[in-house]
Amino acid sequence: NLATRFLHQLTGKDPVPEAAKAMDVALVLHAEHSFNASTFAARVCASTLSDIYSSVTAAVATLKGSLHGGANEEVIKMLRQVGHKSRVKEFIEAELADHKRIFGFGHRVYKTMDPRAIHLMKMSEDLGRATGKLKWFELSVEIQKVMKKLKGLDPNVDFYSASLYETMGIPADLFTAIFAISRSAGWTAHIL
Ligand code: COA
Repeated sequence: NLATRFLHQLTGKDPVPEAAKAMDVALVLHAEHSFNASTFAARVCASTLSDIYSSVTAAVATLKGSLHGGANEEVIKMLRQVGHKSRVKEFIEAELADHKRIFGFGHRVYKTMDPRAIHLMKMSEDLGRATGKLKWFELSVEIQKVMKKLKGLDPNVDFYSASLYETMGIPADLFTAIFAISRSAGWTAHIL
């Protein structure tokens, strides 16, 4: 399928079944999400009778921002910076004391765990077990626990996609681009 071929072309290797399945599901989960910021930008652009290419460009530029789709890249930077479960509490406490945002948490609409994150979390764990690389998943679970306790915030779609893509061996600067590949379906539907 498309996800398997995409991973093959990206890495030069056949993906393990758990990775192929996870990419397939991730592309579906990211495809459309009603009136979010990038879709809004696409619709504003289209409403001036600009063309479809320009409207998708406006959407991509808006998705890139770290409070929107760019958050998944920020999450992996944070996971790498924290490095080990034992450092999570200290790290989050310091960031919050500094009034910083913890990427991958909170949502303008969902006030419980983002339903997409539930699937991404499970796939992140399954792939970690299948490949023997559970480090990023386990670190993420620890951050989730601490964020719930300290801020009462739950993961959004970007949180577990980071550990999932990292475990797949995808370079971090492609995380948001993969989101854009999938969301192109939603944007173009809105523009049309
Ligand atoms: N880390 C730390 N604090 C957060 C937070 C986060 N991820 N998300 C929200 N908050 C805090 C804000 O600082 C604010 O506190 P205050 O009232 O003391 O100022 C409060 O919660 C409300 O913030 P607000 O931005 O109004 O909430 P929102 O629900 O409108 O914001 C987001 C939604 C997505 C912009 C916000 O949760 C965020 O910045 N998340 C991190 C970026 C991210 O993961 N984006 C991807 C979204 S799918």
